[in-house]
Amino acid sequence: MEPILTQDGTPTLFHPVYGEAYHPRQGALLQARRLYLEKTLTHLHPAPRVLEVGLGLLVNFRVTLESALRRGVRLRYLAVEREPLPPELLAKARLPLSRAEEVFEELLRGWPGERFSGPWGELRVVFGDVRDAPLPRGWATAVYLDPFSPRVNPEPWSLSVLQRLRGALRLGGRLATYSAQRAFRLALKEAGFALHRVPGVGKREWTVGIAAKVPRG
Ligand SMILES: C[S@@+](CC[C@H](N)C(=O)[O-])C[C@H]1O[C@@H](n2cnc3c(N)ncnc32)[C@H](O)[C@@H]1O
Repeated sequence: MEPILTQDGTPTLFHPVYGEAYHPRQGALLQARRLYLEKTLTHLHPAPRVLEVGLGLLVNFRVTLESALRRGVRLRYLAVEREPLPPELLAKARLPLSRAEEVFEELLRGWPGERFSGPWGELRVVFGDVRDAPLPRGWATAVYLDPFSPRVNPEPWSLSVLQRLRGALRLGGRLATYSAQRAFRLALKEAGFALHRVPGVGKREWTVGIAAKVPRG
């Protein structure tokens, strides 16, 4: 795989097995900022704790880190990734984010690693499948649900995974994702989220789920 540019000039990859790109053609950085960072209100949170499904090229991580660094808040970020990308490939996928890229340089020296920390905060990575990854309970202020689409990569969108993600979120925490698939949205409600349809960029709707109810079971 080799990085290719999306329309905002930031990189993505095309995965030959899933037959999909890691980001929408309208912009990798654009989606990270407008959907994951802003729709979860992480750009306003004084002590953000993000749980991400699918770390990929770390675009969402770097955009979130840049926001935290500029605001002077510490970021705690936990990601689950089944297929980590090699550091040589990540090194070719640079973003126009001066502060976060400095930290990214440091991370690449130890990549793939399970824990990175510094004055900026902490990144922990669970290498494995989200279906059985250990997740903290009531910890996250935001969940970034960013696997490939439900059509080609159905497992992370299942009710059982969504229930586990709900359990990892604090009450009032927000899950954001680009998918507006009907079966996924029904499962999201069933898992204990209040469903919000939000206008997307490059697609009609994105999905936000607010952890508004006490989880079942
Ligand atoms: C769309 S890409 C993520 C892009 C990434 N969020 C970024 O900011 O660059 C999807 C990622 O989900 C991962 N993934 C797919 N199924 C998974 C699963 N069951 N458990 C954990 N990770 C999974 C893939 O390996 C891939 O890296």
